[in-house]
Amino acid sequence: MIRVEHLSKVFRSRRGNTLALEEIDLTVGDGEFVCLVGPSGCGKSTLLNVIAGLEKPDAGRVLLDGKPITGPGFERSVMFQEAALFPWLTVRKNVEFGLELAHWPKAEWKERIERYLRMVHLWRFRDAYVHEISGGMKQRVALARALAPQPRVLLMDEPFAALDAQTRDVLHNEVQELWRQSKHTVVFVTHNVREAVRLGDRVVLMGSRPGCIKEDVKIDLARPRDTESDVARYVARIMKVLRGEVEKVIREEIDDAWELAPQGRVPPGSAGGMGDGI
Ligand SMILES: Nc1ncnc2c1ncn2[C@@H]1O[C@H](COP(=O)(O)OP(=O)(O)OP(=O)(O)O)[C@@H](O)[C@H]1O
Ligand SMILES: [Mg+2]
Repeated sequence: MIRVEHLSKVFRSRRGNTLALEEIDLTVGDGEFVCLVGPSGCGKSTLLNVIAGLEKPDAGRVLLDGKPITGPGFERSVMFQEAALFPWLTVRKNVEFGLELAHWPKAEWKERIERYLRMVHLWRFRDAYVHEISGGMKQRVALARALAPQPRVLLMDEPFAALDAQTRDVLHNEVQELWRQSKHTVVFVTHNVREAVRLGDRVVLMGSRPGCIKEDVKIDLARPRDTESDVARYVARIMKVLRGEVEKVIREEIDDAWELAPQGRVPPGSAGGMGDGI
């Protein structure tokens, strides 16, 4: 179980200090799939990075099974928007690298690599180089690499944001299926509320800077989630709060000459497209 307790994080730079997170409290149960959504700059990545042990908090702490997280660990795998694969290695070798890093016994590498590449339907491409495969395939290799060392926690920061809607849809199904089989604990950051409602047991909505938790919505829908109307109902509810937060950010960032559209609607092309993918 992950427990985030009174977590605050300040970034200090020459231009001044930024309070990125303020007094965050969050619990993620064993095997739970929690999605974090919120406007740009509200601290989603910062929170994920603190859980990953890549950033240190200024106040508060994060506990994994009661023990404070002080740095990265093999029981937590992280996946980012860019697959961060090694282009000079083949698909198979990229997954192998994950096992090597985690000091997984060498005798088991072959079997595990095959198992996880089959899970993400890429076994046929095992000897391809990274530049020979598509963006969606790269993220599936990254997923196989993250899961092969059997982490307890999978931390994902907008892993599908750079993909087209159809590929993303396929990957949602794969992630749901993989999670159903393995029951990892997942913390998944996304801008896309529809994605969050489709995947999450809970959608945690963060408010604009300094990052805080606005709402924690339990998604009471059976899986696999393909009933569009049910998903849409949750999406509408969460979007209502999120829009207000996005507007706060825009008001802070825009110059004086720019005005928000009437009735509190965010103009097209801004962060308002969060409902169904930007
Ligand atoms: N290394 C850093 N140095 C200074 N400020 C930082 C640093 N990293 C993040 N910040 C600031 O902290 C705040 C939170 O950033 P963070 O990247 O966590 O937001 P986010 O919610 O992930 O945004 P996005 O949705 O755009 O990815 C922002 O104001 C950002 O400018
Ligand atoms: Mg981010």
